Amino acid sequence: MAESTFDVVVVGGGPGGYVCAIRAAQLGFKVACVEKRPALGGTCLNVGCIPSKALLAASEKFEEAAHGLAKFGIKVGGVELDLPGMLAHKDKVVKDNTGGIEFLFKKNKVTWLKGAGTITSGTTVEVEGVGTVTASKAIVIATGSEVTPLPGITIDEKKIVSSTGALELPEVPKRLVVIGGGVIGLELGSVWGRLGAQVTVIEYLDRILPTMDGEISKQSQRIFAKQGMTFKLGAKVTGATVGDAGVALTVEPAAGGAAETIEADVVLVAIGRRAFTQGLGLDTVGVELDNRGRVKIGKHFETNVPGIYAIGDVVEGPMLAHKAEEEGVALAEQLAGQKSHVNHDLVPGVVYTWPEVAAVGKTEEELKAAGIAYRTGKFPFTANGRARAGGNTDGFVKILADATTDTVLGVHLLGPNVSEMIGELVLAMEFSASSEDIARTCHAHPTLSEAVKEAALAVDGRPLHI
Ligand code: NAI
Repeated sequence: MAESTFDVVVVGGGPGGYVCAIRAAQLGFKVACVEKRPALGGTCLNVGCIPSKALLAASEKFEEAAHGLAKFGIKVGGVELDLPGMLAHKDKVVKDNTGGIEFLFKKNKVTWLKGAGTITSGTTVEVEGVGTVTASKAIVIATGSEVTPLPGITIDEKKIVSSTGALELPEVPKRLVVIGGGVIGLELGSVWGRLGAQVTVIEYLDRILPTMDGEISKQSQRIFAKQGMTFKLGAKVTGATVGDAGVALTVEPAAGGAAETIEADVVLVAIGRRAFTQGLGLDTVGVELDNRGRVKIGKHFETNVPGIYAIGDVVEGPMLAHKAEEEGVALAEQLAGQKSHVNHDLVPGVVYTWPEVAAVGKTEEELKAAGIAYRTGKFPFTANGRARAGGNTDGFVKILADATTDTVLGVHLLGPNVSEMIGELVLAMEFSASSEDIARTCHAHPTLSEAVKEAALAVDGRPLHI
C-alpha cells in the first residue's frame, strides 16, 4: 500500500460514509474510505434505495402498459413481462450509480481501501488485506444497518427473503407474504403485486406505516387494498415451515389467540433494520453503544472515544440515506472548524409506492400527544386539474399549522409524484414558513403542487378549488 496515513478514515462507503469522505476531501483533508463490498454505495445503492426504485419504476410501466392505458384512449395488445430484462435494467442502474461514486472518489482524491475495517485505537484502523492505516484527525463509523431477523424464521434468500433477495426473485411468486407493513414491505410488495403476485401483508400493529400520520396510513391502506394487496393487521408470525410447495407460516393475533396457517411461495421479512456494528472492534476500543445497539454519540457526532465519530443508520434517528448524507457533510465541515448542523426535525420520509407517500415534521398524533393546538388544511388530488389529466387522483395534501402562530408544523402527502413535491415543504419549514406564506406563493398552473397551495389556503378555511 502506497499510503497508510490519512487525516480522516471513514469506515463504510454508503451514503453517509461516501458523502462524508467526499466533503472532507473537498475541505482539504487527506481521506480514505474503507469499504468491503465490491462496489461503493452501501446498502442504498447496491441492495436498497436504488435497485428498489429501478424495479418500482419498471413495474409501474409494466402495469400501466398492461392495465392503465385504456382510459387515455390507447389500446395495447399482448403486454408481456420479461423479468430477466427487468432485473437487468435494475442491475445496470446499480452499476452506473456505484461506478459513479468510484469516479467521484477519484475526482476528489479519496482513497478507497477495499476490505473490512476494524478499529484498533482512536487513531488506527486495520483493513483486511490492506494493513493498518492511521487517521490523525478522525475515524468515522458509517457502517449502516442490517436486516432485523425475526425469531423462528430463517432467511435463505430463496423462499424466505430479506429485501436483498426480494430484489432478484427469478420468477414472480404466485403468493408473496410480506411480514411487516412498513416502507420495504409496501414498496417491494407493490413491485411483485404489479408483476402478478398475490400479496398479503402481515403487520404486528393495527395499522400500516405506523410512524406516518394516521390518516395517511388509513387512506394508503385503502388504496393498496383496492390495488389487490391483502392486509392482516394486529398479527404476528410465530413460525415458518419450508417445504417443496412453499412456506407455511404460523400466524397469531398480536394480542394472543388461535393460530392460523398462511401459505406462501415466497415470504419477505421486512420488520425493520438494526445498527451494524459487528466485527468493528468497538468493544476493544471501548466505543459505547446505546440500549438498541447503536453507537452513542454527542451533539457533534463524537463517540465517547476521542477521535472516533459516527453517522447514519448506525446512530440514532431515522434510517434514511438522506439523513446519513446530511450528517456526513455536517461532520466533515465540523472537523474543518465550520459550524454546520443537521436539523433532525425536518428529515423528510418518502414511500415510493403508487400513489407515493411523503411527509415532514409532526403528525397529528404527535401534536395531540404534545398538547399543541393546530389547524389543519387538506386538499384532495381529485380537485387538481393536472392530477385529473394524468389519471392520478388518489390522495391528498394535509398541512398542519400552529393554531396561534400559523407556523407549519407538519405536512403529509399521499398522491402522484409527492416524493418530488415534499422538497418545497421542507424548504418552507426550514425557513419557518407559515401556512399563509405557502398560500401566498405563486404555484404554476396546472401542476400537482397547486394542491400544496390549496391545502395551505384550507388551513385558513379559504381554498379556491373545492
Ligand atoms: P419499517 O420500520 O419501515 O417497517 C417495519 C414494519 O414491521 C413496521 O410496520 C412494524 O410495526 C412491523 N413489524 C415489526 N415486527 C413485526 C413482526 N414481528 N411481525 C409483523 N410486523 C412487524 O422497516 P422496513 O420496512 O424493514 O425498512 C427498514 C428501514 O429501511 C426503515 O428504517 C426504512 O425507513 C428504511 N427504508 C426506507 C425507504 C425509503 O425511504 N423509501 C425504503 C426502504 C427502506
